[in-house]
Amino acid sequence: MGLRCCGLLGLALLLAVAVAGAGAATPRARQLFVVSQAPVTLTDHHGQLLTGNYSVNLLWYGRFTPAQRATVADFVLSLSSDSSNAAASGSPAAPSVASWWTTTSRYHPGAARLILGRQVLDTSLSLGGRLSETALAALAARLSPHRGSVAVVVTAPDVLVDGFCLSRCGLHASATSAAAAAPAPARGAVPTAATRGRGRFAYVWVGNAAEQCPGECAWPFHQPTYGPQAPPPLVAPNADVGMDGVVINLATLLAGAVTNPYGGGYFQGPTEAPLEAVTACTGMFGAGAYPGYPGQLPVDAATGASYNAVGVAGRRFLLPAMWDPKSSQCSTLV
Ligand SMILES: *[C@@H]1O[C@H](CO)[C@@H](O)[C@H](O)[C@H]1NC(C)=O
Repeated sequence: MGLRCCGLLGLALLLAVAVAGAGAATPRARQLFVVSQAPVTLTDHHGQLLTGNYSVNLLWYGRFTPAQRATVADFVLSLSSDSSNAAASGSPAAPSVASWWTTTSRYHPGAARLILGRQVLDTSLSLGGRLSETALAALAARLSPHRGSVAVVVTAPDVLVDGFCLSRCGLHASATSAAAAAPAPARGAVPTAATRGRGRFAYVWVGNAAEQCPGECAWPFHQPTYGPQAPPPLVAPNADVGMDGVVINLATLLAGAVTNPYGGGYFQGPTEAPLEAVTACTGMFGAGAYPGYPGQLPVDAATGASYNAVGVAGRRFLLPAMWDPKSSQCSTLV
């Protein structure tokens, strides 16, 4: 089962406004009626969450520049790095990426700490230029997934993926592998958080939407495809609309993978189309956000870029609001 992500639900909200009087429900419009405007409450379904140390292994499918890969790698590195050096590097004060991630530990003490693992390049599109969900799982399996890792497949702008742009910007899911199952637990051993999910591994796919649907999967760095066009697009903090969009969607999916890895964790709504830690807060980045408006955000005076988090080496990112189980609210960093 794949759980879709990200921008589309928020855009679907906009679409609801747009089509409310029209009566015709397109598939996209239908999605949006899943979105509740009622206060968000994610329910704990008492299934397994990811806890402990996990390495995030990246498979780059298609062409990416070193700078593009570095943007995502630095984001993952920043999840577990104390970025207290941020001020020293000249960045205006902003919360760290690591502090954004700490909200996941409010779901469960010891929620996964994510560490950058290995990276694999597949520049020759070994499974072709159009990928099915099965192909995504096969690519994830190439990262030698084990239960201490999350496999992440990132697809290049020209790679087609079933459902990409039509219903999703990425997904997180799980699969089983022999490697993830080994070593076998001792007979009679009490299952621990680490052994309960034996054989299963979590994986994520996110696509660079720069060419196919930046208005849906790289908003707010691009005009939205649907809905009010009022606020101009934000300047992307890493000067790459597609990759800064990938960071938003990857952040969303990693939070979902850790708090609802196998479909029995925290979510609201139907199992097949759940609202998770970040998808429950889609489209919110700063204080005062409402559908179509990402909220108030710090702007870099030199570049005009909007951001709300600082990572390793002073790198800036725009990260989405995450639902906080202690306050039962979507909390933004700024
Ligand atoms: C995770 O890694 C850190 C740093 O290596 C270590 O201090 C910590 O004990 C590890 N946590 C778990 C649950 O293994």
